[in-house]
Amino acid sequence: MVVPKKISLKEFARRRFELIDLMEENSIAILPSANLVTRNSDTDHHFRQNSDFHYLTGFDEAESVIALVPGREHGECILFCQERDPSSEQWHGKVTGPERAMQLFGIDDAFPIADIDDILPGMIEGKTKLYYAMGSHDEFDGQVIAWDNSISNNPMSGSKPPGEFVQLDQHLHELRLFKSKQEIQVLRKASEITAVGHQRLMDKLVPGVYEYQLEAELLHAFASEGARFPAYPSIVGSGNNACILHYIQNEDQVKKGDLVLVDAGCEYQYYASDVTRTLPASGKFSKAQKELYSIVLKAQEAAIEMIQPGNHWNQSHETAVEIITEGLIELGLLAGERDELIESGAFKKFYMHRTGHWLGLDVHDVGEYKIDDEWRILEEGMVVTVEPGIYVLEDLEDVPAKYKGIGIRIEDDVLVTKRGHEVLTAMIPKTIEEIEQRMAHG
Ligand code: GLY
Ligand code: MN
Ligand code: MN
Repeated sequence: MVVPKKISLKEFARRRFELIDLMEENSIAILPSANLVTRNSDTDHHFRQNSDFHYLTGFDEAESVIALVPGREHGECILFCQERDPSSEQWHGKVTGPERAMQLFGIDDAFPIADIDDILPGMIEGKTKLYYAMGSHDEFDGQVIAWDNSISNNPMSGSKPPGEFVQLDQHLHELRLFKSKQEIQVLRKASEITAVGHQRLMDKLVPGVYEYQLEAELLHAFASEGARFPAYPSIVGSGNNACILHYIQNEDQVKKGDLVLVDAGCEYQYYASDVTRTLPASGKFSKAQKELYSIVLKAQEAAIEMIQPGNHWNQSHETAVEIITEGLIELGLLAGERDELIESGAFKKFYMHRTGHWLGLDVHDVGEYKIDDEWRILEEGMVVTVEPGIYVLEDLEDVPAKYKGIGIRIEDDVLVTKRGHEVLTAMIPKTIEEIEQRMAHG
């Protein structure tokens, strides 16, 4: 049983009220929990609650369903969850049960999940709108359709199914995009723990170490600091592996002249951190590595400057692309006019991803990037990553040998504030001097 610690009950309740406020009269919203996934025979994968479900409840058990019914007399927030069963709890640990869910989680009304077929269709019946994220919950989609059909197929009873299904995600994800003070505190803590992990790794990085050993240093730090799991599989790529954007094999031995790209962040209290640093195995960048690193750093710092309320979402990407393209021309990796190389997409030979994404409960968090086909304007409370890179695969042709097999990305997490921004992960060494100093002194 997990009682919310960092995000208060009041805040979970506020989120539900906000969503209810956005719903139309005479409607119902339904959201299932995540499923427990079998790994093999009687062993399950670690359970992680669905982020939307967690956002609205803080209730992190499988086999649960939340229903929101604006204006319902016996309470607007209804939870279906597992009943307590001492013999099962002996094996799998405590569950909360409907009664305690009401006391501990501020839920208005709670029922055993085993009774959902008897109770929920009655709540759906007669509603004009059903808010539900159709297509996002494979098995549960069928159940929602079956409930809807059971109402339609019984016209003699005079009951009516909802006339309209509405995607729940739009409203909910818009709420999730703007982080509250409490969420920012939790994100700050996630950043601090991630910083401990990256710094521990820097202290252990020497030629000859295996990538998985470096990953172990990250995980040790995360778990020791109260964040048992990373927010996504850690990327520890040395040499040419750093050019593989989602390299998670982490199996090679680090060689003396390598750069090692480390993209790793913890998940703390359900909130993600997402940080990349690129480090010289020997403790010192070579001249060619410095040349490329300086371009990425300049691009990243300038792109971070674009994270301001009033600027649009794509400005940081556009800025990064301009600086990277200019830099690649100067080093002779690209030939031609900057704007033409951008227009034609030629820069993508070395920089083929976007400069960031929303960050929150999910590492690639929810929220629209465009509104009415226009890039979204940044507003206070949004959190983004800024993560430009340059990747020179070792088998690229027409590239000076000294740059081959070098992959660099630099990534920080940035909060949009009232008048500018705050880099939540600024404490992690990033400049050439800071990294070399940290690696020299430990
Ligand atoms: N770690 C995944 C990303 O940077 O987007
Ligand atoms: Mn990342
Ligand atoms: Mn990222």
